[in-house]
Amino acid sequence: MTALAYKYHSQRARKRKKAKLNFKALVSTGTASLNLALASVINRLPNTTSISHPKSPRHPSWFYIQNMDCKSWGSRDIVFLCIIVLSLIHVSLGAKVRHFKWEVEYMYGAPDCQEHVVMGINGQFPGPTIRAKAGDTIVVDLTNKLHTEGVVIHWHGIRQLGTPWADGTASISQCAINPGETFEYRFKVDRPGTYFYHGHYGMQRSAGLYGSLIVDMADGEKEPFHYDAEFNLLLSDWWHKSVHEQEVGLSSNPFRWIGEPQSLLINGRGQYNCSLAAKFSNSSISQCKFKGNEKCAPQVLKVRPNKTYRLRIASTTALASLNLAIKGHKMVVVEADGNHVQPFAVNDLDIYSGESYSVLLKTDQNPYKNYWVSIGVRGRDPKTNQALTLLSYSATPASKLPTTQPPVTPRWDDYNHSKAFTKSIYALMGSPQPPKTYDRRIILLNTQNRLNGFVKWAINNVSLVLPSTPYLGSIKFGLNNAFDQKSPPDNYDSSYDIMKPAPNQNTTQGSGVYSITLNTTVDVILQNANALAKDVSEIHPWHLHGHDFWVLGYGEGKFKDGDEKTFNLKNPPLRNTAVIFPFGWTALRFVADNPGVWAFHCHIEPHLHMGMGVIFAQGVHRVGQIPKEALACGLTGNKQN
Ligand SMILES: *[C@@H]1O[C@H](CO)[C@@H](O)[C@H](O)[C@H]1NC(C)=O
Ligand SMILES: *[C@@H]1O[C@H](CO)[C@@H](O)[C@H](O)[C@H]1NC(C)=O
Ligand SMILES: *[C@@H]1O[C@H](CO)[C@@H](O)[C@H](O)[C@H]1NC(C)=O
Ligand SMILES: *[C@@H]1O[C@H](CO)[C@@H](O)[C@H](O)[C@H]1NC(C)=O
Ligand SMILES: *[C@@H]1O[C@H](CO)[C@@H](O)[C@H](O)[C@H]1NC(C)=O
Ligand SMILES: *[C@@H]1O[C@H](CO)[C@@H](O)[C@H](O)[C@H]1NC(C)=O
Ligand SMILES: *[C@@H]1O[C@H](CO)[C@@H](O)[C@H](O)[C@H]1NC(C)=O
Repeated sequence: MTALAYKYHSQRARKRKKAKLNFKALVSTGTASLNLALASVINRLPNTTSISHPKSPRHPSWFYIQNMDCKSWGSRDIVFLCIIVLSLIHVSLGAKVRHFKWEVEYMYGAPDCQEHVVMGINGQFPGPTIRAKAGDTIVVDLTNKLHTEGVVIHWHGIRQLGTPWADGTASISQCAINPGETFEYRFKVDRPGTYFYHGHYGMQRSAGLYGSLIVDMADGEKEPFHYDAEFNLLLSDWWHKSVHEQEVGLSSNPFRWIGEPQSLLINGRGQYNCSLAAKFSNSSISQCKFKGNEKCAPQVLKVRPNKTYRLRIASTTALASLNLAIKGHKMVVVEADGNHVQPFAVNDLDIYSGESYSVLLKTDQNPYKNYWVSIGVRGRDPKTNQALTLLSYSATPASKLPTTQPPVTPRWDDYNHSKAFTKSIYALMGSPQPPKTYDRRIILLNTQNRLNGFVKWAINNVSLVLPSTPYLGSIKFGLNNAFDQKSPPDNYDSSYDIMKPAPNQNTTQGSGVYSITLNTTVDVILQNANALAKDVSEIHPWHLHGHDFWVLGYGEGKFKDGDEKTFNLKNPPLRNTAVIFPFGWTALRFVADNPGVWAFHCHIEPHLHMGMGVIFAQGVHRVGQIPKEALACGLTGNKQN
């Protein structure tokens, strides 16, 4: 008996029907042409209604410009201006408001074939995919159907220009939404790219509160690369222990670490107690047997030969750094965190929590075979099996398993491999360049410490604790008793030896804020160090809210004056998440041009829980009227604004 006995429906209509019931099933059974129809199917899902933007008044001069031929405008510059004006008009007329009604709840699910409680949205895990076009406005009416806890959702990678209260960070941009309450998130997706959304209250992301957010180019705009169809791979890791139990363990004395994940998930699906490639495994794990309709059955990527596919890959893991490979196929990286990069080919790719990539894949291999797609753990001694699925050519049934072993994930501690990949990422020519100098440099040393016996992460010796009143409200209204008024330091004691455990493990706790002058250029140097145990320094992917930053460089050991000479100011990639390697530093530059209060933190969920983050506030007096529902708690609970 074959391991994968997928049934393929010959009738397109039946496929469509199934797709409507479960959009994810479409990815697994769809043919290339069907996948092309993905966007339109998503738009027709019952919970995704598109409402046209109220039409701009037909101003006579607009009408005139719209019907003009740019060439008749004369000089080159004017023609260029004319094209820009036309494309702006095009964008504004094409933009839509996309409404969603979501209910967040705990429900039973079996992401890795074992039943546990997961967080779902409208009964789905992962949550529904949002698909929009650049310039669209997304409106999500989020109802909290949890029984006893609040909820918020962060739109990861969306800068929230002009809507800092919609960033979805509890205690920072808004109050957690109480059980039974509904909060309206309304924000613009201004740039195309591969994004995702997730819970940002406690460790709700680890509980499964996440989904994809894909923004296509605006009408009339084209990607700088070609592809025939696309797949979406949202990667995560999964624990059998509940998030509540994980949180309690992390906040206990003695400390109880969450351990390594039981499973890795691709689009919310993994296999805990069996393997699709058991005979190649070195453990005694048994072979998975699926009929195909199980919710933990892998989604097969069904492809046609001689085509180019775009894989949109995003990682919302709680802990794991991952490596993805497709047997026999190279991938060309074209997008990172919503920004185009100089295309480069790889056999495998490292992806850290909070990052996203698009890669192009040519189906140029023997179409009478299927190929393993594998995801394995990097950066920590892995105790979790690879997640596997298949790239299946249309000529070959998906039930025909490859006869060769899945790709072997590079050794977890082969950091040279990780660095080689990370350092190959450059901005595509023509991308915005960083300012040549900075106004302020903030060096952030991370250390693992103790606080009255509890284990914490601290930044410049301050472990972040969030206040009960959201910063956005307390800063705007000048409520000085809402959080620590003392700013955390811009640097650390230069005599601190980053290569050794702290001589004095004790640290401090605080809720202070880095106040950044609006429109200034800030350099952040993330400095890694030894953790509590000797010779241990971990990988930390840092994510900035409200901005992209340029990644100017990476280095080993302690950042020193003069290291800025090695910065790449020519074509550094723009990203919203960047990793610091063990015992190393990473240099970032951003322009503080987005009024609001923004978190900047390690995207590893338990690390943030243990205090590994900082808060940047900028131009809060310039923030427009904040919806009062966002501030209906703490000291802002009865403020009128
Ligand atoms: C794993 O699978 C084996 C055999 O299929 C079964 O006996 C065992 O109970 C399973 N273990 C778990 C933890 O599900
Ligand atoms: C199993 O062990 C063999 C020999 O040590 C090794 O070549 C192979 O890569 C291992 N397989 C996996 C899936 O790790
Ligand atoms: C793919 O293209 C190559 C060369 O362009 C051609 O030789 C081959 O027959 C094609 N394969 C299929 C399955 O169409
Ligand atoms: C990694 O690269 C460094 C510098 O290129 C080299 O000195 C070191 O030996 C490499 N480490 C491994 C494990 O290959
Ligand atoms: C560290 O803090 C503990 C209390 O939690 C205290 O007993 C100890 O003396 C402190 N150690 C140093 C070196 O300050
Ligand atoms: C951090 O703060 C603690 C408590 O005040 C202090 O004992 C320790 O020396 C500080 N560590 C550093 C590296 O400044
Ligand atoms: C910041 O820059 C933006 C545009 O770059 C400008 O509109 C705004 O007025 C500037 N604000 C300040 C306080 O300089």
